[in-house]
Amino acid sequence: MKIPFVKAPIIGNEEEYLLKSFRSAYHGGGGPYTRMCHEFMQTKFGIGKAMMTTSGTDALEMSAFLINGKPEDEFIVPSYTFSSTANAFASKGMVPVYCDIREDTLNIDETKIEKLITKKTKAIVPIHYAGIPAEMDTINKIAKKHNIPVIEDAAQAVNSKYKGRYAGNLCELGIFSFHATKSYSSGEGGALTMNDEKYFDRAEFLWEKGTDRSLVVQGLKNKYSWVDYGSSFLPSDLLSALLYAQFENLDQMQERRKKLHDAYVKIFEPLRECGLKLLHVPDTVETNYHAFWLLFESEQQRDKFLKLSLSRGISPYIGYMALHSSPMGKKLGGDRYNLPVTDYVSSSIARLPFYLMSDEEIEYTCANLYETASIALGIKELE
Ligand SMILES: Cc1ncc(COP(=O)(O)O)c(C=O)c1O
Repeated sequence: MKIPFVKAPIIGNEEEYLLKSFRSAYHGGGGPYTRMCHEFMQTKFGIGKAMMTTSGTDALEMSAFLINGKPEDEFIVPSYTFSSTANAFASKGMVPVYCDIREDTLNIDETKIEKLITKKTKAIVPIHYAGIPAEMDTINKIAKKHNIPVIEDAAQAVNSKYKGRYAGNLCELGIFSFHATKSYSSGEGGALTMNDEKYFDRAEFLWEKGTDRSLVVQGLKNKYSWVDYGSSFLPSDLLSALLYAQFENLDQMQERRKKLHDAYVKIFEPLRECGLKLLHVPDTVETNYHAFWLLFESEQQRDKFLKLSLSRGISPYIGYMALHSSPMGKKLGGDRYNLPVTDYVSSSIARLPFYLMSDEEIEYTCANLYETASIALGIKELE
């Protein structure tokens, strides 16, 4: 059996809605499926205003516009994240200030944020790793005290909750990703989430290449013109049609992911005694079961686990390469950081295959990964 790291989800009416959208001959942005996706996110997640984008990366770029990020402004971000979380702001000339992460959730360590704040701090950008929201109450409290916006990178946390509230609704701005590797996918896609009305109108202009076309669509103007910065952030309605079919089956898909998550917990929990760490869901969180990770004691153990698993046709994968020590991160001053937890996690984490697996695939994957992890940990001999 071959078990890839991830497979894009297909669940319900994707084909029907795609065909319907295709045949409607409206393939541009802002069409009926896009509006339905907006409505869905606003209603289900309680988001003030949600806008589909062509990627999570684009949604982050929109948020960098919305906070008026300028050269030399600083933003606080975990180094343990995807390049886009930093790139969106760094490409405006903003300077990344890296914060270390917690070893239990691998999210930004909220106790280390405040001492990184300076007069130049323009944003705090936590991510919700593996679908587990960061400690948002503390982060929001610090941000409020210093009057700094928080932008939640909820790329992986669609349908997760923190203290009863959905990700995307945990601070004033946020983003989702609907990339093919995510739990709900339109191939390439994302959304900007806004919970402060001051952003709503401007986001429409940014979305449509810096024009006020939205006012024409609403019948408020005859002609549209160039009024702001922006880009072509809006996706084709075909992509929204694909995603909407999955939105309709959101909870059912999550239930299937829970099955795999529970199986991983059951099989790996006993290995904690042997020094293995595994994904932890805090009591404050209802997870969307986006991903599952194991944290080994060393890079050697982790690499042995990856190699052995691959030899059995199963493809776990490494996590993020720390941004502060990446080539671009170093160019932007990353060398001056000492982030011990980030460095350890980057070198010793393995993410496990995670997609809508059949019962047979779950059984095969768990049995084999238990063995390869046990060999890597040195508690079982290689046969
Ligand atoms: C934390 C995080 N932020 C942002 C992104 C970027 O999302 P997209 O691929 O939709 O641009 C990703 C994608 O993997 C991610 O994991």
